[in-house]
Amino acid sequence: MNAEAVYPPSAGFSRRAHVGDLEQYRDLYRRAEENPEQFWGELAQSELFWFEPFSSVLEWHPPNVKWFTGGKTNLAYNCLDRHLNTPRAAKTAILWEGEPGDQRAVSYQELHRLVSRFANVLKARGLKAGDRAIIYMPMVPEAAVAMLACARLGVTHSVVFGGFSSEALKARIEDLGARVVITADGGWRRGKPVALKTAVDEAIQSLDVADVIVLRRTGGAVRMKPGRDHWWHDLEADAGDVCPAEPLDSEHPLFVLYTSGTTGKPKGILHTTAGYALHTTLTMKWVFDLREEDVYWCTADVGWVTGHSYVVYGPLSAGATTLMYEGAPDYPGFDRWWSIVERHRVSILYTSPTAIRALLRQGDQWPDSHDLASLRLLGSVGEPINPAAWEWYHRTIGKGRCPIVDTWWQTETGAILISPLPGATPAKPGSATLPLPGVIPAVVDFHGKPVPRGEKGFLVIQRPWPGMLRTILNDPARYESQYWQRIPGAYFTGDAARQDEDGYFWILGRVDDAINVSGHRLSTMEVESALVRHPLVAEAAVVGKPDEITGQAVCAFVTLKNVDRDHRDLGAELRQWVTHEIGAFARPAEVRFADALPKTRSGKIMRRLLREIVTSHSVTGDVTTLEDMAVVSRLAAQHDDEA
Ligand code: PRX
Repeated sequence: MNAEAVYPPSAGFSRRAHVGDLEQYRDLYRRAEENPEQFWGELAQSELFWFEPFSSVLEWHPPNVKWFTGGKTNLAYNCLDRHLNTPRAAKTAILWEGEPGDQRAVSYQELHRLVSRFANVLKARGLKAGDRAIIYMPMVPEAAVAMLACARLGVTHSVVFGGFSSEALKARIEDLGARVVITADGGWRRGKPVALKTAVDEAIQSLDVADVIVLRRTGGAVRMKPGRDHWWHDLEADAGDVCPAEPLDSEHPLFVLYTSGTTGKPKGILHTTAGYALHTTLTMKWVFDLREEDVYWCTADVGWVTGHSYVVYGPLSAGATTLMYEGAPDYPGFDRWWSIVERHRVSILYTSPTAIRALLRQGDQWPDSHDLASLRLLGSVGEPINPAAWEWYHRTIGKGRCPIVDTWWQTETGAILISPLPGATPAKPGSATLPLPGVIPAVVDFHGKPVPRGEKGFLVIQRPWPGMLRTILNDPARYESQYWQRIPGAYFTGDAARQDEDGYFWILGRVDDAINVSGHRLSTMEVESALVRHPLVAEAAVVGKPDEITGQAVCAFVTLKNVDRDHRDLGAELRQWVTHEIGAFARPAEVRFADALPKTRSGKIMRRLLREIVTSHSVTGDVTTLEDMAVVSRLAAQHDDEA
């Protein structure tokens, strides 16, 4: 580890940064650690608008937490109204580019008007605080408008990524108990319209959904069911411009976002209003060092937590110009992103290691043919970034000038917890470095005892933080067992990590059955459940296989019921099946057929062995509990036959 590179922030960057050196960071950290209530209480007052002040900062009765109780606020108000009596009113809030090349710049004033009108649309459909709505949209400004309109009224939203299938959408609509689905005819991806409304139709066939509101985006044909389905523009035409933001309790449920768990069933992670608002707003300053003149671009889709916190809520609350791009990074050419950076003078770019690796592979000529001089800060999220990708990002995209913030966090954490502060923290490629003020992580063993520096252990967080999840919707017992009972007295992240001699955190990947494909968390159990629903599949085991671009790829081992089918055909069929059941991003890169899966004597599938097979093509270690060693050798040999 001695040879690892260290990149201190440049003096020029630090001079203007919110947190300008390590001493200042340590001072903030100390203050937060010594008196968290005072620390967070003061920040909540200075960073957010309150209709009514809070009476207590923190009520912590593990595993239940309440932040800023007694207070009334509204996140849409914080994102919009509070900027209106300032010079920001005319500033571009959302800068948007559609894949076909259409562009829009929506000012704060205009966004406020659009959100108010759409909130009136929702009101007219009978929606009020406490109701729930599903948003299934492409990356267009109206996706943010829909989210903010819900937040304005106190309607809890759940955004479902447009890449999810109708099956996955259905499960989420049901679990949420949504009365309304907000969608579009489709969106553009690689030059083609991707239908969304047809997936909604399939999903809600047997469900009790009162209203479907459909934005016209691609102009593709859609079926509108009279009485249930309405065009966005028709409803909006009748709506007024004035819709005051609802004063909501600090703990009012803001949104639910489904993420993979350790079983086949996705978990509805619930976030509430004030703590989330504070945490996302603050990290825009601490981590992204936001300045008034920045053009900030986070490439995530609003269907993931990164899109919630760092495309919509954080940037708008902090008064940024946030860029949204609808389509694929490689359409029409591999320089699409770099042309966007040049065209819109993007100064902060936040993306995933998978995207960086995929673009790196195409060669330097693509970024080199564009002027990237506007960039001043780069960010990475979603998976560990390998040093080679970090170096390329730094050198070829940032021209050696731009600090890189490698931000560690999760759907559950709401916002960034571990990251360099770009003016203060020397970076080490591949490390998320140090925790933010108020965040107390540790690397521990099974009993919660810290492991020595340099050793691998479980990453836990030892105190509550404002943006943390509040529960799993409809399953509080699972919330407790999943996050608070694994390691005594701490929040269990599900990640392995080690801390180096400087206290830097190195995230080593998941310790549960989750795998990380292109920065998206996928549950192997969820893919297995999808596979065994196929009529020909007897058993399935899914493991992550190392992949140069996507970090991990889905590799499925299946045994079949008594059938005689060409494996190549059936493999393609099963991959398509998973696309249908979950979505294309979960499609196995590889399906391997076996006579039997390796099991322990008690009948549990030994995934560790399968992981070894896909990683090293051989099996080492203890296999004495194997029911049938021959099964393993056959699986290992199969790879060599196919290679
Ligand atoms: O394993 C960690 C990885 O992504 C997981 C969280 O996934 P998700 O809830 O989908 O949220 C992704 C975007 C916030 C974590 O448990 N992860 C996230 N960021 C990093 C990371 N692994 C290493 N380094 C990171 N910077």
